[in-house]
This record gives sequence, C-alpha cells and structure tokens, in this order.
Amino acid sequence: MIVAIDGPAGSGKSTIARALARRLGLTYLDTGAMYRVVTLLALEQDVPLESDSRLGCLAREMDVRFVDTPDETARVLVGDRDVTDAIRNPLVSQKVSLVAAHRQVRQALLRRQRQLAEQGDMVLEGRDIGTVVCPRAELKVYLTASAEVRATRRRQQLEEQGVCISQNALERELLLRDSRDSGRVLAPLRKARDAVEIDTSALTVDQVLDLIVEHAAANEPGEGTPC
Ligand code: DC
Repeated sequence: MIVAIDGPAGSGKSTIARALARRLGLTYLDTGAMYRVVTLLALEQDVPLESDSRLGCLAREMDVRFVDTPDETARVLVGDRDVTDAIRNPLVSQKVSLVAAHRQVRQALLRRQRQLAEQGDMVLEGRDIGTVVCPRAELKVYLTASAEVRATRRRQQLEEQGVCISQNALERELLLRDSRDSGRVLAPLRKARDAVEIDTSALTVDQVLDLIVEHAAANEPGEGTPC
C-alpha cells in the first residue's frame, strides 16, 4: 500500500508519517529531506540558488541515503556523512523553498522518489505526493494546522536542538514558505481532490493516527502502480 501525506510546514507530517509507517509496517520516505539536502549542498558549495542547471546537477548526482536506526529516528546520509541535523538548520529552512521551485531539481527528485516508491508499501511525505509523485496512491492525507500551532511546534523542535528563534519570526518564515510552496508553477502545494483533510491543531498524534488508520482500513489496495 502507498500512503501519500501532504501539507504545509509544521502541520505534523513528519511525526505522523513516521508513526503511521511504524503502525502499518510500511517504509517511510521524507521527500522534504531530499530538497533540504540539495539546498545544504548548494549553500556549502556556493552554487547560486537561481541556477536551475547547477542545482539540477546536484540533485541528479548527490548520493543521498536514508538509514533506519534502532531508536527508529531515520538518519539522512550524503555519502558517509550524516546530515540529519544540518539539513534542519535555519538557513536551509529559509532557502529550501527557493531551491524546490526549480524544474531540474524537481525532475531529478521526482525520478528518485518514484523509483523508491516502486518497491511499494511506503508512506511518502511531502507537498506534491498525492498530486504528482503518486497520484494513484491508495490513501491520500492532507494535514493542516493553524500558523500559530505550526510555529509553536517548530520552535519546540528547534529548542530541543539548542536553537532559539522567536515565535513571531518562525510564524513569518512559515507563512513565507507556504506562499512560495503553494504559489510556485511546478507541483505546488495543493490538496489532491481525493485526499482526506485533517486539521491537526487540536488533536494529539494518536488521535490523528487513529483517524488515518480508519481511512486506511477502508481503502483496500487497488490494482496497478500508484505512482
Ligand atoms: O517538509 P519540509 O519542511 O522538510 O520540506 C522542505 C521544503 O521542500 C518545503 O519548503 C517545500 C519542499 N518540498 C517540495 O517542494 N516537495 C516535496 N514533495 C517535499 C518538500
């Protein structure tokens, strides 16, 4: 079974997608991490963020892997280097939506994501999974939450990593990223017509999971390839 989970930053996608994959015994793929890796490498290598062709090269050639760990927090590796924390740093978060708008970057990552999804039995999380990457996914979920709740979640995550940013600054950054992600021409953030929409603002992780599992049970895997 392929489950597509989309939604804006801070809507709870990563937490929910990871926990759902564990519950249903599916593999988890964080497609946002791929866009973040391209952004990190571009910043480190001084690749101009306007250069579609050079960013496309990075996206095609990067050796990115996801490795599960015993405590179930997947690590993101580029070659042998662990970039799990580096791809979440504030500068990458600020710039990633610019990189994600490039045609060649999207083409390269779409190809990789579809190759991974071809193995089946996966929860994919991102912005365009239900609309572009896996338009025939057996279950599509679109998560939302108020900007205030989303900024609070991000602030708490960053504080756990020892990074302090004001609530207002985070809320502004999230709204800017939302408008870039949903306003771009290519594969914009959008709810698929057949997606189940869940507002997670006032729900616990378990409540959201229960709702999704109910929908999953009602959706028997269909015929053919979902991506
Ligand atoms: O989920 P995230 O915040 O880690 O995603 C980082 C950025 O990557 C986000 O601003 C938009 C982009 N993205 C995308 O364009 N398409 C995806 N499928 C996943 C992420």
